[in-house]
Amino acid sequence: MKLLVTGGTGQVGEALRRLAPKLGITVIAPGRGELDLSNPGSIRLPPGIDGVINTGAYTAVDKAESERALAETVNGIAPGVLATEAAKRGLPIVQLSTDYVFDGTKTEPYLETDPVNPLSVYGRTKETGERAVRDANPRHAVMRTCWVYAVHGNNFVKTMLRLGKERDQLKVVADQTGAPTLADDIARAAVEIAKGLRDGKPAGTYHYAAGGATTWHGLASAIWAKAGPRLGRSPAIDPIPTSGYPTPAKRPQNSRLDCAKVVSTFGVIRRPWERALDETLAILLDEKP
Ligand SMILES: NC(=O)c1ccc[n+]([C@@H]2O[C@H](COP(=O)([O-])OP(=O)(O)OC[C@H]3O[C@@H](n4cnc5c(N)ncnc54)[C@H](OP(=O)(O)O)[C@@H]3O)[C@@H](O)[C@H]2O)c1
Repeated sequence: MKLLVTGGTGQVGEALRRLAPKLGITVIAPGRGELDLSNPGSIRLPPGIDGVINTGAYTAVDKAESERALAETVNGIAPGVLATEAAKRGLPIVQLSTDYVFDGTKTEPYLETDPVNPLSVYGRTKETGERAVRDANPRHAVMRTCWVYAVHGNNFVKTMLRLGKERDQLKVVADQTGAPTLADDIARAAVEIAKGLRDGKPAGTYHYAAGGATTWHGLASAIWAKAGPRLGRSPAIDPIPTSGYPTPAKRPQNSRLDCAKVVSTFGVIRRPWERALDETLAILLDEKP
């Protein structure tokens, strides 16, 4: 299967490119210069593809509060154009989306059918993109994930490792809950979904995240439980409430996603978040400083 992957330099896009041979797919991943999501009118699909995975997005959650128009174009409008172009050729599209479409007030994991109520510009623009894709292409999967990290790119795991090497004390938010999800696992699942859509499995919205859940504080503690003995350091990791770390964009307190539907429909694999984290830390801790 030959797939157009947008956002090929991002965490999930890089994982798709790297894992493509193992997953039995060919990836075409044009850079921003060739496929610019901020200029939806210019978007053209390359010939010969069998589907699209749209991982490209405006992901600077806090900056989006002051760059609304750009975030809206990239996250809200461009996905609809990609979906329309794919639909003209009868091709499926997997649209990556986010837990930030929810307000986080539910006490249980979110189901695909739960009402959306984004708290931030980023969340609103991603929700607009979801609707645009659903409306434009009957062969779609809106794949919501959360708390993405990878060896490649910038993310919480790498930030905590860096800060813990520099400081003796880290203060980390302990009242937001989610599942840290490795980009490689998302890439594998996205390809399973794309193949499933090709083979006639049902379109729709699907939640995909690692198994289990923790808080940002729990994640930072798990990172340093592993890194500490290796690096001969043990920074104090102190829990703080969200109010102790003010940010321009509001985040949901509960980011847990119920993933039963994607497993039963596409047979995708979900690993416990701790297992994927261990694998990632083994790589990161072997890297030269
Ligand atoms: N990161 C998370 O915690 C998280 C959580 C839930 C859902 N998601 C969703 O998962 C998907 C993948 O996220 P990620 O973490 O892999 O994102 P990422 O690492 O921030 O990568 C974003 C990608 O989008 C590209 N991009 C941004 N603006 C573009 C434009 N105007 N034209 C073309 N490409 C553009 C970037 O290209 P450049 O390298 O050129 O900037 C980059 O390749 C996104 O849809 C995101 O909304 C992410």
